[in-house]
Amino acid sequence: MTVNAKLSTAKGQDLYRRAKKLIPGGTQLLSKRPELFLPDQWPSYFSKARGVEVTDVDGNTYVDMSMMAIGACVLGYADPDVDGAVKAAIDAGSASTLNAPEEVELAELLCELHPWSGMVRYARAGGEAMMMAVRIARAKSGRDKVAFSGYHGWCDWYLAANLADEAALDGQLMPGLDPAGVPRGLKGTALPFHYNRLDELKAIVDANHGELGAIVMEPQRGQAPDPGFLESVRDIATEIGAVLIFDEVTTGWRMTDGGIHMLLGVNPDIAVFAKAMANGYPMAAIVGAVPVMEAAQSTFISSTNWTERVGTVAALATIRKYRRERVAEHLKMIGNLMFDGWKRAAANTGIALHTEGLPSLTHFGFEHPDEPLLTTLFTQDMLERGYLAYSQFKPSFAHQPAHVAEYMKAVESSFAMIADAIRAGDYASRLKGPCARRGFYRLTS
Ligand SMILES: Cc1ncc(COP(=O)(O)O)c(C=O)c1O
Repeated sequence: MTVNAKLSTAKGQDLYRRAKKLIPGGTQLLSKRPELFLPDQWPSYFSKARGVEVTDVDGNTYVDMSMMAIGACVLGYADPDVDGAVKAAIDAGSASTLNAPEEVELAELLCELHPWSGMVRYARAGGEAMMMAVRIARAKSGRDKVAFSGYHGWCDWYLAANLADEAALDGQLMPGLDPAGVPRGLKGTALPFHYNRLDELKAIVDANHGELGAIVMEPQRGQAPDPGFLESVRDIATEIGAVLIFDEVTTGWRMTDGGIHMLLGVNPDIAVFAKAMANGYPMAAIVGAVPVMEAAQSTFISSTNWTERVGTVAALATIRKYRRERVAEHLKMIGNLMFDGWKRAAANTGIALHTEGLPSLTHFGFEHPDEPLLTTLFTQDMLERGYLAYSQFKPSFAHQPAHVAEYMKAVESSFAMIADAIRAGDYASRLKGPCARRGFYRLTS
């Protein structure tokens, strides 16, 4: 195993410094900020991505054992079947005055996969698709207030929760989301409850009698649902006439062909998909029961670029391959190998560590008061060993058991170095740059 202690990411650093002057926040997605992984060292920009490999703008090639485009590339980078379909669509013309027929084909496929549903609208990103779902729910119910659990994107309806209480979104996945610019008039319209806390949801329902138009949540994320929890949420929504929206932007196409709710046995009124459904091409779908989706005709929802052909064609090709190749089973197999490997490497090197998450959305965490420093040191060390590595891993169809086996050899060496650093108490001084930063904050340089 080679370790490149002289690895240079200078071009990437330079580009990111320029970006921070030109692009507020540096990147378009918080989860792609280099500061999140390895400030001043993370390669930051890619020139090429194929299978599980990413080449940065400095010419270094890494195996990606981290986020795989933050969960978008479920089949692997530049999947030949999806890209082949996209190239054919480009050759045939990706936009025209007429509509793309694939919109209808995809709607039929999504409704077949989710038999409780009957109508579909499209968008091109998760956050805007969630915004559309909430608009439809408000139009259907005639009510403004939304009870929600978890993270659902950047839009006003959601960030309004933080107008009421600075800490309202803490514990909902991403602490510190600032609602500056969200109209104060929305205060009190988005009401958070924690996953598995039926008592919190009931308290919201009791306090907002007749005003709650939607209940929004991920059907499952880190925690499994307590017995009866999802069924009770479903019953409450039906009873009070609120629209139940399952946000499957991240969980969709991770555990099964479509939404994880199909495995959990509870149907929403609307399920929202994005990310993995088109293997990295921009695409999102709002899939719903007919009586609820009909309300989309009573409100104005319309956008030019929702009609382009690439997203729709990429989604059809991704979903067809996903079903044909039984990709969900592959993801779970790879994720379970990762859980086992992390635990084994930790036991062999005397590192205290826990693992969590679904097998297709895996995490580990060092059990140490200076966990952020250790995680940063891990990312730094693994980068020099040729890996994009972090405390999260989202498996793809392109990851093979051999990738996991090779990666685990590197992990074991890295954990041994970290165990040594813990014993010596010098882990902070082994970092060649600042410690990684999490959550939402303003970039000042
Ligand atoms: C559950 C959930 N909802 C919504 C979003 C927002 O999706 P997007 O980043 O595509 O706007 C995300 C993104 O991470 C998510 O995980």
